[in-house]
Amino acid sequence: MKILNSPAKASEYRKSLKGSVGFVPTMGALHEGHLSLIKKAKSENDFVIVSIFVNPTQFLPGEDFNKYPRRLEADFEICKRAGVDAVFTPTPENMYSEDEILIKAPKVKGYILEGFFRPGHFDGVLQVVNKLFNIIRPTRAYFGKKDAQQLYLIKQMVKNFFFDIEIIECDTVREKDGLALSSRNIYLSEIERNRALSISKALKRAAKLSASIKDTEKIKEEMLKILDVDEMQYIAFVDRDFNYIKEIIPGNTIILIAAKVGETRLIDNIFI
Ligand code: PAJ
Repeated sequence: MKILNSPAKASEYRKSLKGSVGFVPTMGALHEGHLSLIKKAKSENDFVIVSIFVNPTQFLPGEDFNKYPRRLEADFEICKRAGVDAVFTPTPENMYSEDEILIKAPKVKGYILEGFFRPGHFDGVLQVVNKLFNIIRPTRAYFGKKDAQQLYLIKQMVKNFFFDIEIIECDTVREKDGLALSSRNIYLSEIERNRALSISKALKRAAKLSASIKDTEKIKEEMLKILDVDEMQYIAFVDRDFNYIKEIIPGNTIILIAAKVGETRLIDNIFI
């Protein structure tokens, strides 16, 4: 497995490949969720490239950029075992220059929900994914539904900037008890982890209720009875294009939650 630590090396490697390239962008601290994307990429492409880069521009001041888990050696091992062909590990210095051209997330859908609580976050995500796409030039790129709004915005960027890349949506991987896997789960104490479980439980309950109740306010009331969190940031009902909806549309609804348990901010969602 190749380790490519600069955009120049990654570009050169990419040029040497003949065949389809599956690309999995990550910030590392790899878990089964990331691994499911890697496995899917492996099964659908001749080559698989994973990027590991804790991208500074998508963290707001005061967020966890400095303490975000970094476990490069363990991540390499996971990638090697999964049959990854190359891991791209750039640095902020070789990815960014001073006073550069910036990408702006769309005014509405980039600034609601996650974008409201983390203003500018998606500007940074789109900036880095745009760079990564240009360096790796993948045939297909794999993203998790766990970050549903990110996935939606990346699909929009591919359309708006005419990238010739197929975006593959991957289901959320969960622990046996329902907790969505996240690199940030390691911040949770055992008690907090138990309380965090109320998020996936509320979503599961909402999905069940949505078969008979269409009024999203009524479903939200039921969800609030289950949720045991310290700060409820949002419970939202949107269609697949992230327009707010008042009534459940079967096959075209996403229910999303963002909440803090202790100091840890968690997001989860369910597609209906
Ligand atoms: P990161 O949080 O490391 O996630 C990398 C990819 O793994 C994303 O597409 C995310 O949706 C997916 N993922 C995370 N948890 C998952 C789970 N439990 N099940 C399935 N997929 C899961 O998202 C980012 O990094 C960054 O914003 C990035 C796109 C790399 C840009 O910096």
